[in-house]
Amino acid sequence: MLFSRDFHCILTRKEQININKLPAHVAIIMDGNGRWAKAHGEQRIFGHHNGVKAVRDVTEASAELGINFLTLYAFSTENWNRPVDEVNALMELLVHTITQETETLMKNNVRLLTIGDTDSLPPRTKEELQAAIKHTSQNSGLSLVLALSYSSRWEITDAVKRLATKVKLGELQPDSITEQLIADHLNTAKIPDPELLIRTSGEQRISNFLLWQIAYTELYITDVLWPDFTKDEFYKALITYQQRERRFGLTSEQINPGTA
Ligand code: IPE
Ligand code: IPE
Ligand code: MG
Repeated sequence: MLFSRDFHCILTRKEQININKLPAHVAIIMDGNGRWAKAHGEQRIFGHHNGVKAVRDVTEASAELGINFLTLYAFSTENWNRPVDEVNALMELLVHTITQETETLMKNNVRLLTIGDTDSLPPRTKEELQAAIKHTSQNSGLSLVLALSYSSRWEITDAVKRLATKVKLGELQPDSITEQLIADHLNTAKIPDPELLIRTSGEQRISNFLLWQIAYTELYITDVLWPDFTKDEFYKALITYQQRERRFGLTSEQINPGTA
């Protein structure tokens, strides 16, 4: 807590967060590494390297606050179409970061999970990832979900294929297909829908991320580029989220009886 000159106390950004109204799941589209590098007169990969600190910061902030799930969009299905040098450098960075950060994850009681077509990752990336997932599997604090080679349309298509197979085998009646059953066949089956989705770098789009899961998610878009995204920026997003009225199709009066 800080004190102003006339001794009024000023709450720090972190202290302005209502701990009883935290989202259980925050998802982030970490965007703007390339532009950050360009602004610093460097190659795109320099931006990716500098984005690691922001990953560390939001993970630590989420664990400290007691958020249950943090999903980070790290590499999309469409990102495979980037120049091969950038893709290779990103895969190398992933291996390096996962190896280096596993002990910190252990220290912070963080469990690592992934969503996406991880079979398509290079063998070394896959191995490191599997080792870290296994190593952290008993941790009971924050679940850090890395979306890797992920796209929502890929995920939904995969779920439809598995449902169709069950129907074909006579294990499932088409009439028994419910929203819940579809959700149970997504990669995020055991993960609650995010209450808050953050996108950095100012782009006003979803880019094939969690389309099913964000039906009623609050969106927060900031112009800050991912390598500049700090804990304080994360707290700002949480405070904004806490000021929103989530109505889920109801009226404001229904949400707050007696205020009409
Ligand atoms: C996000 O930053 C990281 C990945 C998509 C892997 P970008 O690399 O998309 O950076 P910009 O959007 O080109 O600035
Ligand atoms: C979205 O960023 C994917 C990730 C952050 C991993 P992109 O930079 O790929 O998104 P678009 O292409 O600008 O929509
Ligand atoms: Mg981008």
